[in-house]
This record gives sequence, C-alpha cells and structure tokens, in this order.
Amino acid sequence: MDNANPAPLTARRSGPLKGTAQVPGDKSISQRALILGALAEGETRISGLLESGDVHSTAGALQGFGAELTAEGPGRWRVRGTGVGNWQSPKSELDFGNSGTGSRLVMGAMATTAITAVFTGDASLRSRPMARVVDPLKAFGVTYEGQGPKALMPLTLHGAKEAKAITETVKVASAQVKSALLLAALNAHGTSRITQTTPTRDHTEKMLAAFGAKISVTPNPGGGEVIAVEGPAELTGCTVEVPRDPSSAAFPLVSALIVPGSEIELPAILLNPRRIGLIETLLEMGANIEITNRRTSGGEEIGDLIVRHSELRGIEVPPERAPSMIDEYPILAVAASFAKGKTAMRGLEELRVKESDRLEAVARGLKANSVKYEIEGDDLIVEGGTVPGGGVVSTHMDHRVAMSFLTMGLASEKPVTVDDVAMIATSFPEYQDLMRDLGAKLESP
Ligand code: S3P
Repeated sequence: MDNANPAPLTARRSGPLKGTAQVPGDKSISQRALILGALAEGETRISGLLESGDVHSTAGALQGFGAELTAEGPGRWRVRGTGVGNWQSPKSELDFGNSGTGSRLVMGAMATTAITAVFTGDASLRSRPMARVVDPLKAFGVTYEGQGPKALMPLTLHGAKEAKAITETVKVASAQVKSALLLAALNAHGTSRITQTTPTRDHTEKMLAAFGAKISVTPNPGGGEVIAVEGPAELTGCTVEVPRDPSSAAFPLVSALIVPGSEIELPAILLNPRRIGLIETLLEMGANIEITNRRTSGGEEIGDLIVRHSELRGIEVPPERAPSMIDEYPILAVAASFAKGKTAMRGLEELRVKESDRLEAVARGLKANSVKYEIEGDDLIVEGGTVPGGGVVSTHMDHRVAMSFLTMGLASEKPVTVDDVAMIATSFPEYQDLMRDLGAKLESP
C-alpha cells in the first residue's frame, strides 16, 4: 500500500552545485537520546535533535509510557524521564509511523518492565519483521502477539516481571536488535552479556555509558565483541549534543561528486568509524572528499567535509563493510552508475528488510533509468558510465530510495522522476530546500 496522495518530484541535470549545506541531526543518535532520556531519572537536555517524522513518532510513544518531553526550540528538547523500570502501560496503541529504529528500541526498553503496549506503524513498518527483535527478547521472559511468523505489527508486547540477566548472541548484523537487548538488560537483575559477531553502530553503548550505566565492551574471542550491562541500572539524565547525520549528508555529497564543476562543504558531520563506510568506499572510487577540522562533540568524532566533482571508478565493495554503510547502498548504487566500470556491492541481505526491500527497489530504479546492473544472490553489481535517466521511480515508501534517485536525476541525460517524496520527511525534512540552495534543479513534474 502506498501513500493516498503521492507527491512526485523531478530532478533535472543541474549546473555546478556550490555552497555550504547544514544537514540535520543524526537519526540514530536522536532516537537514542529521547529513549534514554525517557528511561533516566532527572532531566536530559538535547540540542541538534533531528526534527523529523521518525523522531517525532518516537517522542509521542515515549510520552505514552509516562516520560515528559518538551520541545523548546528547533532541535532543542528537554526530557524528564521516569527512572529505569518505572514506565507505565500506554493508554492507547503506539503509532511509530515509518520508524523501525524507534519501535524496535522501545520494544527493548519496555521488555523488562511488567507493562503491556501495542505497537503499530505505517504500511511500510507494518510489513517489516519484528520477530528479529521480539524473539531474542523472549530470553528475558517477554511474550507477544504479532501477525504471522514474522511477528508483524500490530504487535502487543507484554514486558517480563522480575527479569533476570541473559547471555545471548545476536544472530543478525543489526544495531537495532543489539540495542533492544542492551536496553532490556537495564532492568534485568545481574549482568547480561550480549555478543555481536559483526560489530554494528555503537551509539547505544556510548550513550548508555554517558547516562551512567555500568557497561563494558570487550573483544569476543570468536570475532566481534561482548557487551556486558549490569542491571538494574540507574541512569541519570544528561546533556546530549547530536552531531549531523552522515546518512543524510550522503545525498548532497554524492550529488556534488557527480555534477560537474561542483564544490560543496558539509560541516560538522558525524564521523563515527562505524558509520563512514560510504566515505571510505567513495575515496577508493577516486572521490575528492577532504575531511578537515576533526574534533569530538558529544562523545562522537565529527569533521567538516569538502566535496568536489570527481571522476569515479568502479570497485569491489566487500561484505564486511556493509554494517558501516548499511543505509548508504541506494546512494552508492547511484554513484556507481556514474563511475567508470563495474562496482560490485557484496553481502546485501540486510537491505531486504529495510523501509522497503531496498535491493529490489534500487534494482527497479536502475532499470527504469537504463543503468546496467546484475543481482547475484544478495550482491548488486552496477556497470557505470553515462546515465540515460528518463525513468519514473517507485519509492515504495522509502525515503532513501526517493533521495537516491533524485540525486541521479541531477546528472543523468534525461530527468528522473520519483513517484512520491512524502517519506523524505521521516529523516530529512529540509532536503529539497537544502538541495535547491546548492543549485539542484528539483521541480514538480
Ligand atoms: C539503525 C540501524 C540500522 C539502520 C537504521 C538505523 C539504528 O538498522 O538501517 O536506519 O539506529 O540502530 P539495522 O540495525 O536493522 O541494520
């Protein structure tokens, strides 16, 4: 099911992109700041929060559990939490809109408190598997009623009474699943040990430490790492500065690389090593990306990027890199379409369970614009060069698919239209204005 009133948009070949683009706050960190703030005792003050559909739906849900969240100005929020273990059963069902991260992390956060909540969302979220989160949470004693074997939403989750610590290995390379278990461990008695054989983004671990949780991360002898969390935890509200989102920066960044004559600056971007797989890959492809002024902000590494138009060349992108750029494959596929030769992106199975089946959605978008590609199992191989364009791309309620193919249209021979840009507001509401300010031609079809 798609949006009842779709808003299509066309991107046309544009002149050089120039200027400075202030992309919004990181989505992963924004979600975690609200959730930990709602679990902590006392006040959490957040600046730079991403003001987007996904983050606002999480904020609404947290109010349902009894936390007080107040927006004090753009990106500035104050959260008064309840203390770990003190959430109440929400009076009505929780609508998480399009947000997989918000819903899955909140499932974990309530899992060891004896309360019940009903989780639902939009058509895209209701088609995404929740079993990957709620099944591992059973080890803490949760029970649930979802739809079918994938435990689709609407899903009713009953938190466990007097949960005990667990030792568990996360079976998928997912930061959401790992984070749900870590948050559940906060109110379980004893030390939970969560092993992840493929390391994924570590914002939950870092932020838990900043809120005062007893948490340690040690290497796992068989690869990856073991995260130990002691419960019941006492979290104390603190100050969180949210850095700018590298996953949103990816769109103006690749736009500047493919539009001849471009030079843009992207200041204060999060450069957490587990989030910069796209930058590493583009550098290997010959991209001219200068990283200056590296510094830390709010416990995370950040830096300013200067990006210039570049002649890209195709490369092999190894499967081990997937966790550090999991949300960036659609835009990498667009960059690869303009690169000389073949770019092989390996090991993309996790892409099939995103806001859409992103591997399929990207393949259809490439086809609509006459880009040559092959899918072999879960690998995507794109043969780049000149991009004919001229296609109409179905976004399947997926914000990143929409922004990726609009990017393509800025440098393809014929314009590219996407069928609906409404979902862009889930992660990057300023996208159109920001891109137009750089000189991008985005027009109603
Ligand atoms: C996220 C983790 C990733 C990513 C999502 C944000 C997070 O999902 O795709 O956009 O904030 O933890 P998975 O953990 O399912 O890979």
